[in-house]
Amino acid sequence: MGCPAKSVRQHGSGAALILTPDLAQELVRQTRQGIHDFVNGLELESIPELKQKTRTMIMERHRGLPPEYQARREIPVSVKTRVGFDAPVIKDWIETLLEVEPAVISVHGRTLKQLYSGSANWDLIGQAAEVAKNTPTKVFGNGDVRTPEQAQEKFAHYGVDGILVGRATFGDPWLIGEMRRYRDSDWSADFEYREPSVENRINIAIEHSRIYAETYPNEHFLPMRKHLAWYIKGFPFASEYRVRLMMADSAEEVESVLEEFRGKLNTGTPNEAHQ
Ligand SMILES: Cc1cc2nc3c(=O)[nH]c(=O)nc-3n(C[C@H](O)[C@H](O)[C@H](O)COP(=O)(O)O)c2cc1C
Repeated sequence: MGCPAKSVRQHGSGAALILTPDLAQELVRQTRQGIHDFVNGLELESIPELKQKTRTMIMERHRGLPPEYQARREIPVSVKTRVGFDAPVIKDWIETLLEVEPAVISVHGRTLKQLYSGSANWDLIGQAAEVAKNTPTKVFGNGDVRTPEQAQEKFAHYGVDGILVGRATFGDPWLIGEMRRYRDSDWSADFEYREPSVENRINIAIEHSRIYAETYPNEHFLPMRKHLAWYIKGFPFASEYRVRLMMADSAEEVESVLEEFRGKLNTGTPNEAHQ
């Protein structure tokens, strides 16, 4: 209930659901009912209104899940949303959602209209946490958290039960582990964020590509490419190698380009413009 993409919101989905609170509530109820029915043995064949194409797609995706995720188990229903459609309506909107008791409401501190511009309004996220305080629902805050120090500051000031981190993890899959390490140290003053080295980034980019190719042997390599650009961002020669990585079609190709990049970084001119 937070997606701002035009193709989604023009059908009344995503963050446009903020404008149709009854429908939003019904979706939470029906999702919970669907999980319940599945846990109690409902088979897709016994849902006549389901198109054959949809049924096949669901079954294929289900079979592709790791075994523990294929089990029929009660999973919590949570909502991820924004603070409003064109203007913040956080208190009313959170109260509406609380009526159907999702396990978690994650709040991205922007309106739909803002898309990703400006900055996330954490005061509004704090208000959401306040409204949900004595209810069974937890509130997670989201928006513009980039470092473990910022995560600590959000926990300290806004009363949230958790934090979601999005864009800052692009190219840095260790970030959330680092944030957790900081939290587990009780926000110790001695904590130092371990910035990933270029070696680690290159290694994980190669590993990520291999796992992607193994997991999706029949899919195009395209969705993997943006990650490769994020992994090398900020290093010398990045623009030159990004162009080549954007044309890669296999894990082997990625490995060969990145090994060349590694060699160039180790021997190349350090004054090359950073990208
Ligand atoms: C490329 C991209 C894809 C995203 N896809 C989703 C998505 O599928 N589902 C979702 O709930 N949010 C999605 N988001 C939104 C993020 O989860 C997050 O709410 C937003 O980026 C703000 O957090 P951040 O400042 O930590 O990135 C996406 C964001 C970006 C930039």
